[in-house]
Formats: sequence, structure tokens, C-alpha cells
Amino acid sequence: MGNKNVADIRRLLLAAYDAGKRSLPWREETDPYRIWVSEVMLQQTRVETVIPYYERWLERFPDIEALAEAQDDDVLRAWQGLGYYSRARRLHQGARIVKERYSGTLPRNSEGLRELPGVGQYTAGAVASIAFGEAVPALDGNVKRVFSRLFDLVDPTPADLQGLGQDLVDRERPGDFNQALMELGALTCLPRTPRCEECPLETQCLALARGTVGERPSTRPRKTIPEKDVDVLVASAEDGKGGFHFLLRKRPDKGLLAGMWEFPDVGLFPEEELGMDPTDPEPLPMPAVSHTFSHLKVRYRPRLLRGKLTATDLTPPTTTLHATRWVPLGGLDRLPLPVAQQKIAREAMRLLGV
Ligand code: ADE
Repeated sequence: MGNKNVADIRRLLLAAYDAGKRSLPWREETDPYRIWVSEVMLQQTRVETVIPYYERWLERFPDIEALAEAQDDDVLRAWQGLGYYSRARRLHQGARIVKERYSGTLPRNSEGLRELPGVGQYTAGAVASIAFGEAVPALDGNVKRVFSRLFDLVDPTPADLQGLGQDLVDRERPGDFNQALMELGALTCLPRTPRCEECPLETQCLALARGTVGERPSTRPRKTIPEKDVDVLVASAEDGKGGFHFLLRKRPDKGLLAGMWEFPDVGLFPEEELGMDPTDPEPLPMPAVSHTFSHLKVRYRPRLLRGKLTATDLTPPTTTLHATRWVPLGGLDRLPLPVAQQKIAREAMRLLGV
């Protein structure tokens, strides 16, 4: 890459960004905490989905102090529906670390930021360039595709891409430059139908000149992800005062959906230990609900058990599990429930007529 190409790429890209950048809420912000939040939300989630979550999050947790002091359940609930919940937990841990170790101020460069949980090379680069003007790259999946076309790379290593990013990033406006590349990848240099005729880098693109745009980046066959069926017990009980309750369990603090609430596996609670009288001889099969996580597809097969709470009343069944609770319907909104569990709850309420 010659100096002339570098200068041209920077100039063309920044001019296009200035002329046509989307107005996004985090682009109005200079507070590093707010930029950190936006970049963590944007790691695996589309811009349109992120915007309302981002705005609500900042109303609830306007600064690092507020987030550091928040309860785990409130943090997870604010993330509910965004997926990849470990991001929320790490952000929360990060805020506590910043409060305790750095007197409430985020580290001001990418190296320092990487010390925080959940902050990898991408997020550190994005926050450092946007919030602190550090000339470091921020390579998300879109930007990697842009590079593999711009430089017609067949099989670049992460280090190759990082090196190119480091050479290319504009020294005066690194944050805008990085966002301009992301914008190009998200709106113009599309995976299957790139809009080369409207690309500001049309004159610079090696793959376009060589006719290989369609082959870049070279696609590896997708890994098939394993599938698993989980039989779920939706235990519902009337409390004699016209109120309905669901039996929910809190997941362990580590692993998939850590700390979130759910309907338990059937096997975890023998019916006789539920502390209620079943009113049906057999639990009612409900429609299956599938959810694909990053590495696992789960098919939940719920069965609805109806009953009345007995003398033991709202004492949850004895169990070695993390935590179980009879939750009144009105309390469901206050617990962090993954999307699949919300669907199950809605269907159960429909079947119960409540
Ligand atoms: N994706 C990741 N970071 C982004 C940003 N700052 N603007 C738009 N899309 C993004």
C-alpha cells in the first residue's frame, strides 16, 4: 500500500462519512462510558435493535457509578431481549472495577481498556479511537470484509488485518475513520450484493479491479451447531385468592444465560415435591419453542402442569438448585427472563386464560 493510496482512502472515506453518516444516538455523545456501552451492545447486535436498548439503558444507568451500584437482576433485565447476556454481566463487572480500582474513570487508551472484562481488541479499539482519539483500528466482521475486498486478500490472518487497520487508520480523526469503515461495511460493501457503484472506495478497490469481489472474503462452510431438546416443566398454581403463580428457577452464575430466570427442566422437580396439588392427571403438552445461541440450538418442549398451592404455600420445593421461587404473574416483569422463556410464559398464560 503506497502513501498515496493511504491518503486517498482516508480522504474519500471521511468525505463520504461526513456527507452521509447516519445520525445515531451514540454519535452525539462524548462521554467514554456511553461510548463503551454502545460498542458492547453493537458487538453482536444490529444498530436498529440496539438504539432503544441503548436509550433505556442510559436512563436507568446514566453513569458508571449508577451501573456499578445496580443489582444483578436489574442489569440483566435492562438487557433482556438483546441476547448474549454475558455482555451485560461483564459491563456490570467492568463498571464495578472502574469504580473501585480507577476511581470511577475509564482507562484512557486501548491497552488500559483491554484490562476490563468483555473488552477485546475490537471494543478497546472502538472506544479508544472514538472517545479518546487514539489512532488504533477497530475491526468488526464488516470491516474485515471491506479489507479483504479493498486489498483482495484470499485468507488474511487476524494479525494481517490488524496490521492493515493500524496502517490505514486516520491519525487526525481515528474515531470517525473507524466508524466510516463500519458504515461502509454495514450499508455499502454488503456480503452478497455489494453496491460497488455507490462506494466511495470504488477507485481504490483491488478486488473490484480484478473481478473477485464476489469471492471475497472466501467463505468457509458454516459449522453446523449442535441441537438439544430440553423438557420444561411449566408449573402453575392458583393461590386460592384468584392469583396465579409460576415456578421459576434462577440459573447458575456461570455458563449459558448465567443468572437469568427460567422454567425448570422437567427432571429437576418430581411432581410430588412441588408443594402443590395438581388438578390435571397429566401435564398438558405445549408448542415447542426453539432458540439458537451462538454455539447451541435448544428446542424447549414445555408441559403445563396446573395446580393449587397447598399449606406449604409459596415455599418453593426443596432442591439443591441455585434458587427457585413461586412467582406471581405480576412479578414476571421484574425478573430477567430470556426471550424463549417469555414466549413459553405467554403461551402458558393464554392456555390458562389469564
Ligand atoms: N457497529 C459497531 N460500532 C458501531 C458504531 N459506532 N456505529 C455504527 N455501527 C457500529
